[in-house]
Amino acid sequence: MSFSTEYEKFMKRAPGSCKLFEENKRLAPFGVHSNYRVHDPFPIFVRKAKGSRIWDVDGNEYIDFNMAFGALVAGHSHPILVEELKKNLEEGTIFGHESSESIMLAKIICGRFKLDMVRFNSTGMEVTMYAVRLARAYTGRSKIMKFEGCYHGSNDNLLVSVKPHLSKTGHIKHPIPVPASPGLSPEVSKYTVVAQFNDVESVDRLFEKYGDEIAGVILEPVAMNMGVIEPDPEFLKTLRKLCDEYNSVLIFDEVKTCGKWFGGAEERYGVKPDLKALGKAIGGGIPLSAIGGRKEIMELFGPGKVSHAGTFNANPLSVKAGIITLEKILTRDAMEKAAKLGEQLAKGYRDIIEDYKIKALVSTIGISGAVLFTDQEHVRNYRELLKCDFGKWFGYFISMLNRGIIPAATGPDEQWTISVQHTPEDIEKHLEAFKEVAPIVKGVEQPLEMVEAV
Ligand SMILES: Cc1ncc(COP(=O)(O)O)c(C=O)c1O
Repeated sequence: MSFSTEYEKFMKRAPGSCKLFEENKRLAPFGVHSNYRVHDPFPIFVRKAKGSRIWDVDGNEYIDFNMAFGALVAGHSHPILVEELKKNLEEGTIFGHESSESIMLAKIICGRFKLDMVRFNSTGMEVTMYAVRLARAYTGRSKIMKFEGCYHGSNDNLLVSVKPHLSKTGHIKHPIPVPASPGLSPEVSKYTVVAQFNDVESVDRLFEKYGDEIAGVILEPVAMNMGVIEPDPEFLKTLRKLCDEYNSVLIFDEVKTCGKWFGGAEERYGVKPDLKALGKAIGGGIPLSAIGGRKEIMELFGPGKVSHAGTFNANPLSVKAGIITLEKILTRDAMEKAAKLGEQLAKGYRDIIEDYKIKALVSTIGISGAVLFTDQEHVRNYRELLKCDFGKWFGYFISMLNRGIIPAATGPDEQWTISVQHTPEDIEKHLEAFKEVAPIVKGVEQPLEMVEAV
C-alpha cells in the first residue's frame, strides 16, 4: 500500500465529484468558491449533510471532522435549529430594521464573551476588518502588528504573511511582511508589521521601533491556522502589557476560538483584549459574526463617525440562529462533553503514532486538534510548521477519505472539529481508519512541500 494507490482509489470511488469539479472549473476559477477548498486530485462535491455525517454525490458516506472549517460546532442541521429557523423562513428572513431579538443576542454574546458592546456582521473577514478600522480610528495611528502564519480572513488589511514561502520570510526574529495575494495595495505591507508567534522579543523589538505608530496588535490567541498552537503561558499577558505601555489596541481574532470551548480565550487565559472578533460557530451554520469589546472604542461606530454597515447585519435568520446556538446547543455542558471526545481522539492518535513509531505530533485544545508529521519536539510558530511534511499530510487525508472519514479541515495548517452531535462511536471509527492508514504513513517518505500565497 502506498499513497499513490490511495490517490487512485480515491479517484475511482468519487467519479461524480471529479466530473462536477471539471464542470465547475469552467465556471468558477479553480472549480471552487473559496481557495481553501481545493486539493489534489479534486475536492468531494457534497449532496447532503446531517449531524456528524456528509454524503457526497457518489453516495459515499463520511463522518465529518472538517465541520465547515470549524463553523459547525453545532453539527450539521441541528434539529433544534432547524425547527426554530423554519418559523423565521415564514415570518421574514431580512427586515432592514432592528428587532428585539438582536437585543437578546447582543446580551447573550456580551455576557458569554465579556464585551461591553457589540455589532453584528456575517463573516469573519468583516469583523477583523472592522477591528483594524476601530484601532486606527481610536489611536489615530496607521500601523497594525500581526503574526506570521496567522490568518484573519481574506480582507486586504491583514493579507500579509499568511502562508509565505520560506524563501521570502527573512530572519525568524525579524519576519519580513509578505503580501499574501496579488492585487493588494503596496500600502498594505507598508502599514503592517509582522512578529513571530510565541516570541515576545520580536514583538518588543517592533514596539521599540514603531511604538507610537502602532494602532493595534491582532492575533489568533490560539493559532488555529497553523495547526493548533497554544500561546506560551506568558505570551498573551506580555502582549497586554506592551499594548498598555504603548497605548495600542489589543485585538483577539476569536473567529475560530470563540467556538472551541465555552467562553473564548479570555476565559481560558485570563487576558482581556480591547476588541474581540467572533464568527463561525456562533451562528450554528448560518452566517453570523460579531465585533465587540470596550465601550469607548465601540462607541466610535456611528453615523458621521467610524463606518459600520451591512444590508445583512443582524438579519433575523442569523440572529435567531445565534440565540438558539448559543443558548440551547453550545451550552457549557455540551462543549465539555465534545471536548472529552476530543481528548479521546487525541489520545487514540498518540497511541497509534507510538505503536507505529511514526514521526508526528498531536496538538489539541477543546474540541479541536491536529496531527502534524514531523520529527520536531514541538511546533510553536510558523517556521516550525513549515518544517512539517505537508505531502505526507495530504496522503493521510486522502487515505482517510477513502475510509469514510474527513479527518480535519483541508490542510495541515487546519484542525479537526468535534461537534456536539459527534458520538463516541464516531471517534472509534475515526481511530479505526487511522489505524489502517498509519502503516501507509509510516512507509512513505515524501519531500517537504510548502504552500504559497493564499
Ligand atoms: C482566525 C480566523 N479569522 C478570520 C477568518 C475569516 O472568517 P470568514 O471565512 O468567515 O471570513 C477565519 C477563517 O477561517 C479564521 O480562521
